[in-house]
Amino acid sequence: MKKQPIGIFDSGLGGLTILNALHRTLPREDLIYFGDTANVPYGSKSKEAVTKFSLAIARFLEKQGVKLIVVACNTASAQALGKLRKEISVPVMGVIEPGAQKAIESTLNRRIAVLGTEGTVKSNAYPKAILKRDHKIRIVQQACPLFVPLVEEHWGKKPATQLIARDYLNRVKKSGADTVILGCTHYPILKTVISDILGRGVTLVDSADTLAQAAHDFLIEQGKFQTKGKGRVRIYASDDPARFKRLAGYLLEEKIGKVHLKKLDL
Ligand code: DGL
Repeated sequence: MKKQPIGIFDSGLGGLTILNALHRTLPREDLIYFGDTANVPYGSKSKEAVTKFSLAIARFLEKQGVKLIVVACNTASAQALGKLRKEISVPVMGVIEPGAQKAIESTLNRRIAVLGTEGTVKSNAYPKAILKRDHKIRIVQQACPLFVPLVEEHWGKKPATQLIARDYLNRVKKSGADTVILGCTHYPILKTVISDILGRGVTLVDSADTLAQAAHDFLIEQGKFQTKGKGRVRIYASDDPARFKRLAGYLLEEKIGKVHLKKLDL
């Protein structure tokens, strides 16, 4: 059987953290990454718009013959997963369920905070996924819309970012949550800033490794796990591949390969 790749997509480049986790966990698999740089940010857009972009990307990945689609974007996972599963013939996995599961396993006082984009918070996807598993958990949500541009502008270590983070995290601190879900692709990059404010007793959950493990288990279960060869990574962006490559360099602190331009059929 021909080697089938795994498709991964995000609104931009934040999902590269998920791509890296998949590559570490599944080193023999070919991976195709799509960053929708023409339409980023998804976090402040309507559910209709996010669903339209997500469907167009998933259709493109489906045409590439992928065996699984991983939605690395939290906003797209929160708003478009149901529609994708209905319309796309390939299995689709999102970041919400693995993140919720990991947070439940981590909390001792059964108080969880969720940080995300406006779209993710508005969708209540994380609270729904958590309460479905344990309806006694108390949840507080906080949208942090300024975090994405701060990360992309490489402002993570500047005092302004600390001031903004302090403001966003005020309610989270007051809630007494011992576990905080970093419910957006970019927030793991601000882990140190967030952890300094919340203190060592608070566990920060990012879903990259859990999701990679879930993808691994799924492929084994389906008998589609690659046991030979070395996996290759191909990256597409819907606009300005050169900028994508440059930003990825300082986000991941490592170089990525060629970025191919692919405009979406919307
Ligand atoms: N990828 C988005 C997410 O994880 C963040 C960036 C955006 O707003 O598009 O929610």
